[in-house]
Parts: sequence; structure tokens; C-alpha cells
Amino acid sequence: MNKTSFVDSSVKMAPVAGSTATVSRDKRETVGDIRVDHPRVRCNNVNVYYGDKHAIHNINLDVGNNEIIALIGPSGCGKTTFLRCLNRMNDTIKGCRVEGEILMEGQNINAREVDVVPLRARVGMVFQKPNPFPKSIFENVAFGPRIHGLAQGKADLEEIVVTSLQKAGLWTEVKDRLEEPGTGLSGGQQQRLCIARTIAVQPEVILMDEPCSALDPIATAKIEELMAELREQYSICIVTHSMQQAARVSQRTAFFHLGDLIEVGETEQIFVAPTHQLTEDYITGRFG
Ligand SMILES: Nc1ncnc2c1ncn2[C@@H]1O[C@H](COP(=O)(O)OP(=O)(O)O)[C@@H](O)[C@H]1O
Ligand SMILES: [Mg+2]
Repeated sequence: MNKTSFVDSSVKMAPVAGSTATVSRDKRETVGDIRVDHPRVRCNNVNVYYGDKHAIHNINLDVGNNEIIALIGPSGCGKTTFLRCLNRMNDTIKGCRVEGEILMEGQNINAREVDVVPLRARVGMVFQKPNPFPKSIFENVAFGPRIHGLAQGKADLEEIVVTSLQKAGLWTEVKDRLEEPGTGLSGGQQQRLCIARTIAVQPEVILMDEPCSALDPIATAKIEELMAELREQYSICIVTHSMQQAARVSQRTAFFHLGDLIEVGETEQIFVAPTHQLTEDYITGRFG
């Protein structure tokens, strides 16, 4: 499918203040609804610096309950940096500094006293390249619940492993080979194993950073189907370079450009009638 096919060419774009290149680089105002009722995550004035480099500028955005929000924008615009804020993965990068408030159930996860180990169970992450542990399929899923003390014994742990693999849509494919290494699975199966591993520790939010970019179309379709099911229980933030994927899986879309959050809205609105000129230029393939 052609990228431009999401856009009705009859839609006339009104020029929007601040969309020109001459605008101050401090921060461009976000267009659209950054807030939702009863957010799972609320970001207030989030800034990230790598040394002197100001990578993302004053981001304000909510992630709703049971929603999939797609983060789109050209390479280097700050999508991964923003995603990593949500489970404090930027803490692991030397020279990286995060400012601002990220609230989950009213608590600022950036507060010094917050223990990042349970936080990263609450906000799990799935990466571009499937990265199963060099352990058996069973152990890949059992590892998290064990270290977080979520199982009351062997039978309970087995139950968690089975349920997580079922929820990740992988159970029937692996039930007879649980002791085989996770790395022996196909790429798409490995990615679903990583999703099972994330689910096993009962997250509230699942972050996915281009989870299908290393997968073939059939494996991609399986992950997308799975995301639609997972949404019933979790909130999902997905970074994707595929406009088609964003349109297929997400309810809301956030468009980033050069570290600014330019526009947020219902996915259909973003793809059919974007408000900001830059959003239109990006989704019609004029840059990116
Ligand atoms: N570990 C890092 N150290 C220094 N700069 C980084 C690091 N990670 C990302 N950046 C910079 O921050 C900006 C945003 O990057 P990133 O979040 O990876 O963008 P995206 O995921 O949208 O491609 C880019 O200019 C990138 O070069
Ligand atoms: Mg990235």
C-alpha cells in the first residue's frame, strides 16, 4: 500500500502557525488532545538531554487505559528517547538527563526514591530485535516472575508461564518444546516470546520500539493481531516507521519532529485530516 493512500487529497490543509522552519527551536506547541480521562501515564514537561544535546523538548502527553498509542516521526526525532522515559531506561545511558514529571497512579516515576526494578515490571519493554535470554523457552518466561517473587511455588510458576505464553499467542507452537532454547525459535516466535516474558510480570504498560521491523509480513500480522488482544488488559505505546501499522493497530497517534511533539490525535484524524502542516508532510511521504 502506498503511504499517501491514507490521505484524502481533497483535504485542504490550513497553514498552521509555528509550522515553518523559522520557528524557535526551544519548543513548538503541540497541536491536538494531549490529555485523556483517567490516564495510565501522564507526562508533564518532559525534557531529555544527552550531555549538551537537548533531545526532546517539553513533552506533555497522556497514555490512556487500554489504548494503543503510536509514536511516529522521522529517524532521530526522539521516539525511542521518549519511550525510554516511561520506564526510566534512560537512567542506564551515561550522560543522559531526564527532567519533568511522569505520573503513574499519581506518583512521579522520576522521583529519586522510586525503585526502577518493579517499575520496569510495571512498564515492560519489547525491542526492535527480539532478544530472548540464552535460556530455555520456559526459563525466558519464568525468570521475571521468579525474581519479582510473583509465584507461590512450582505449580504456580508453571501456571504463569503457560498463561503468559497463551496470551502471547505462542503456546500451541511451543508447548512440546518448553525446554528448548528460546533463541532457536523463528524471529516472529522470539518476539512473541519476549512479549510473553513482558506479560509474565503483570505489567500495566507495554512499550514496543519498532517491534516488527525485523519480522516478515506474516509474523508482523501475528504481532498486530496480538496487540489488539493485549489492549484489553494493557496500555501499549508503539514506535513504528510503518504508517500502515500505526493506522491498523493504534487508537491515538503522536507525531514527533526534531524532538518536539508536533501533533497528537485520534489515529484516523491524524492520517485523514492532520492539522499541522508538518504532520501532513510526513504522512504523505514528503520527508522521513
Ligand atoms: N545514547 C545516546 N547518546 C547520545 N545521543 C543520543 C543517544 N540516543 C539518542 N540520541 C540522540 O537523540 C536524538 C533522538 O534519538 P532517538 O530517540 O533515538 O530518535 P528516534 O527513536 O526517533 O529515531 C537523536 O538526535 C539521537 O542522535
Ligand atoms: Mg528509535
